[in-house]
Amino acid sequence: MAILYLCPGRESETWVTPLERLLPNDEVWVWPEVPDPAKVEVVLAWKQPWDELKRYPNLKLISSIGAGVEHLVEDPTLPEGVPIVRIVEDRLTIGMVEYVVLHVLKRHRWVQEMEANQRAKLWKWLPPQDTPTTTVGILGMGALGGAAAAVLKQIGFRVVGWSRSPKAVAGIESFHGPDGLKPFLSVCAHVASLLPNTPETRGILNAETLAALPRGAHVINAGRGSAIVDADLLAALETGHVSWASLDVFNTEPLPADSPYWTHPRVTVTPHNAADSIADYVVPTIVENIERLRAGKPLQNLVDRTRGY
Ligand code: NAP
Ligand code: GLV
Repeated sequence: MAILYLCPGRESETWVTPLERLLPNDEVWVWPEVPDPAKVEVVLAWKQPWDELKRYPNLKLISSIGAGVEHLVEDPTLPEGVPIVRIVEDRLTIGMVEYVVLHVLKRHRWVQEMEANQRAKLWKWLPPQDTPTTTVGILGMGALGGAAAAVLKQIGFRVVGWSRSPKAVAGIESFHGPDGLKPFLSVCAHVASLLPNTPETRGILNAETLAALPRGAHVINAGRGSAIVDADLLAALETGHVSWASLDVFNTEPLPADSPYWTHPRVTVTPHNAADSIADYVVPTIVENIERLRAGKPLQNLVDRTRGY
């Protein structure tokens, strides 16, 4: 079997080395060097050129090398019937939990204000905020959102979640579906989006839904930039309806030099690195799925093409 690493612009060595070590009887090729397209049975893909996947007539499995799969499900030439899997892995989850907790706590403990005060040599007491009555909302209670919610709950916050389907998680109030969105937002002092990029989630944080947040809410986005209508978020920051935005993902990446987010005094920009796929930990999960494919066993972390995630 040949396994093709089809991730243009991403380094390949850290992925190929563990793949070759764990699959010594298979061939591992790095696109665009494909000696025989008919031998490719597994593709590891990230932002592949559209048209490329249809070149492999014996493809049996496509694995994203990250949690997101919009680059696959939106590819108009995606071959019918080939299963798509994605990454759910502990290091990735830990990274995302750290990101969300970090940014919630920075606001909750007035870190940005105190850093400004330190620069001004200003000794200024700021009132403590009450953790159990501070509500953090997680948009997208999946592998990453569910883990972030659990840690925030453990710290002592009131935590609420919104997802497509209802969830029964002890101590975390669940909202779901389009009708549950505004009631969910209306209680959130902090709201963190960990939603995938699908037709339903695009622009979900817009003028109308942002208006449902309590005044002064903090918006965090580490899912996908497409969830936010930028002009509407900037307008809400201008009026103070949203007090701060912590953004890791953007509608255009890299974030263009002329984006107002770069210099906005109440926006924290990070370069889409909330949670990285670390090859040494992710490759064994991909190899597990390749072994399952060979053994005819059910695949893990299967993507539902019709839902888009
Ligand atoms: P996941 O397990 O598939 O969870 C997705 C969650 O979103 C689920 O709870 C799902 O609801 C919910 N959802 C999807 N569409 C919805 C809709 N229309 N209405 C309401 N809820 C909806 O995905 P994950 O592994 O947690 O990853 C989430 C996303 O994080 C990825 O898709 C990727 O875009 C992003 N990500 C970002 C980084 C970064 O570094 N910034 C790193 C990794 C991942 P149900 O539970 O009801 O299905
Ligand atoms: C990163 O953004 C991922 O989807 O894993």
